[in-house]
Amino acid sequence: MTAILHTGDPERGVLWQEIVSREVPELDFRCEPEIGDPADIRYLIAWTLDPALIARLTNLEVLFSIGAGVDQLDLSQLPPHVRVVRMIETGITNTMADYVAMATLALHRDLPFYLANQREGVWKPQDVLLSSERTVGVMGLGQLGRAAIAKLAPLGFRVLGWSRSKADVEGAACFAGENEFDAFLAQCDIVICLLPLTDETRGMLNRDLFARMKQGASLINVARGGHLVQDDLVAALDEGQLRYAFLDVAKPEPLAPDHPFYAHPAIFLTPHVAGVTRKDTAVHSLVANLRRELAGEPLDGEVDRARGY
Ligand code: NAP
Ligand code: GLV
Repeated sequence: MTAILHTGDPERGVLWQEIVSREVPELDFRCEPEIGDPADIRYLIAWTLDPALIARLTNLEVLFSIGAGVDQLDLSQLPPHVRVVRMIETGITNTMADYVAMATLALHRDLPFYLANQREGVWKPQDVLLSSERTVGVMGLGQLGRAAIAKLAPLGFRVLGWSRSKADVEGAACFAGENEFDAFLAQCDIVICLLPLTDETRGMLNRDLFARMKQGASLINVARGGHLVQDDLVAALDEGQLRYAFLDVAKPEPLAPDHPFYAHPAIFLTPHVAGVTRKDTAVHSLVANLRRELAGEPLDGEVDRARGY
């Protein structure tokens, strides 16, 4: 018998069990803690890994991440032959694109400035710029960076993109690699981080990067808290090098209630809700991948474990 094991949110497990059992009847869908004979389990669905469970799954072949990112899974716990697949699904991409548009428009139209003035009883109009007069840069041109650009470009922004290898994205002028990073950064009024968290990108949103940005530019971090050096951000905001920061992610999550980010007047914090895996849509991505797997075809979203994304 070949089985797939779901871990995490029990409500999602019940829904996915019903749908996967109907759509892929060749597989026995099990929900933790009812794992049955662990030797049957070839596929695992998880957001994070439990080492005690992994040790029992001696025939595991593929790990399906609940999220688009895989850094929250400690992949060193998995034998090297186990393939890892990130979640690519319309729920995450659509909610992420909406969030990025919301934060970009809020910064573009000076909402933080007007909210602060409102609290102080101040009525003070500022010059209003056209969206075409604002340059927005997206770091990371994968599924989510591209979805963000597809939402931002029709709003009229001048959009730039940056990634490791040269990309061709409709609606954006693209830059690649360290050699073109300064040319990208120096033009942006708003920089959006949508990079995966890897050994190369950890701590990348730091004092050095902020100094290379335009003075008075703003940051939107919707990737991972580990990309950001928190003290460097506070210093850049307090010194006026950066104007505002929208942060959807933090390290650790949740931040302690007395963390300075909550009260900082130039920081806007949301609790990791930018791009959300929807149980009703993600299950169809899973089903499609399980069908590919059973047909011996390549999986959508397979991670290069050496590269980390
Ligand atoms: P993806 O499809 O794997 O795309 C990754 C992109 O980043 C690619 O364009 C890649 O360039 C680029 N990249 C990776 N390492 C780089 C480096 N060192 N320098 C320059 N570019 C680099 O990832 P995705 O699906 O768009 O997701 C991105 C991240 O968003 C996830 O990993 C996760 O951390 C985060 N996320 C956050 C939320 C939230 O709610 N806040 C929700 C979902 C996901 P190449 O293609 O050239 O290698
Ligand atoms: C959420 O953060 C994800 O990686 O999907």
